[in-house]
Amino acid sequence: MAEALRVGIAGLGTVGAAVARVLEQKAGELTRQCGRPIVVTAVSARDRKRDRGADLSGAQWFDDPSELARKAQIDVFVELIGGDEGPARTSVKTALEAGRHVVTANKALLAKHGVALAEIAERRGVLLNYEAAVAGGIPVIKTLREALAGNSVSRVFGILNGTCNYILTRMEAEGLSFDDCLADAQRLGYAEADPTFDIEGNDTAHKLSILTSLAFGTKIAADDIYLEGISNITQADIRAARDLGYRIKLLGVAQKTDSGIEQRVHPTMVPTASVIAQVNGVTNAVAIETDILGELLLSGPGAGGNATASAVVGDVADIAKSRPGFQHGPVFGWPAKELKPYKKAKMRSHAGGYFIRLTVHDRIGVFAAVAKRMADNDISLESIVQHASDSAEAEKTVILITHETTEAAVRKAVDGITRDGHTTSKPQVIRIERAA
Ligand code: HSE
Repeated sequence: MAEALRVGIAGLGTVGAAVARVLEQKAGELTRQCGRPIVVTAVSARDRKRDRGADLSGAQWFDDPSELARKAQIDVFVELIGGDEGPARTSVKTALEAGRHVVTANKALLAKHGVALAEIAERRGVLLNYEAAVAGGIPVIKTLREALAGNSVSRVFGILNGTCNYILTRMEAEGLSFDDCLADAQRLGYAEADPTFDIEGNDTAHKLSILTSLAFGTKIAADDIYLEGISNITQADIRAARDLGYRIKLLGVAQKTDSGIEQRVHPTMVPTASVIAQVNGVTNAVAIETDILGELLLSGPGAGGNATASAVVGDVADIAKSRPGFQHGPVFGWPAKELKPYKKAKMRSHAGGYFIRLTVHDRIGVFAAVAKRMADNDISLESIVQHASDSAEAEKTVILITHETTEAAVRKAVDGITRDGHTTSKPQVIRIERAA
């Protein structure tokens, strides 16, 4: 049998501990599949004493992950520390420069430094595997990078954050408050160390930027993403969406348009009957539309220890199966130096339907004024509903669903309605996404 693949794990939190457990519990199967054992020979974590449910007594401990990356007797460096700078970045760079393969679940790091790290990996002839960085256990990186070669992608979109989907699902199904749902998501190990990254959409944006690069062969452009989180989604929005045949999901969408690529992350109305609307709880889903294949939808567990560990272990096993001298494929599907510059489409040109919820004074002429602002901006309405608002004030709630229009037109119309002085609170605008 070939020699064991020696693995160093940096970071033994929820995901790192789950990886160590899976490697231990599945040692027999993995050895048979890979033709050699996979052994954890080195680890780095702050707390040496904590019970992680795996026997790490044979592993060498390092306080500094970069020292592990440089000095440990390892073939693969598994980075599960998190963060786009600091120890995560330094240790991954160190490992790649030292000619060691790297497996990481760190979407923030890849979103910021992925292309530079890919250049090092490709120059040194080692693998940089990151299946766990996007959509937890769903094998979407392999799908885009390997299975869809030759396809031209027109749109890739999906539910990429388990925490947000868990919150929105429970708010709708059980009428719970946002804060209660978030606390549960944290307790279950779904949320980021700083959950603002989840609920304000940054985590989805990091993942989307990686998918965009894979889908369109462009450099990663995480700073060029239109971003809105779910923290201002209320029960009133969720109820209104349901009444009108929609469900609210936080989607990341990357789409080719005539003027460039749209990358956007925002709460989105999807038709209740669509497949993506049925994706609930911590489950993620990614839809990919291509010229040859048509539409593909992948869905599965998107966050948590085991889901992420499944993808990390798969990446480690790929390395265990590769043989010395084998030429590894490029990290982002195209050689890093050949990734094209990213050309951003302006958000104002985005075309689609919109949900607009207004709380307005209950007085004569308001409805007509709202309708006029819509007409003045060439916005055609699919439906308009008015009902009493939740508050005791003399207010009404007006809900509009538009036919396809532009972001610029909607912003102008809503600004106009606000300036007219008829609204009693900030209008809520939620984009509608076409979904099968
Ligand atoms: N906090 C992330 C989520 C973890 O909720 O999806 C997986 O990346």
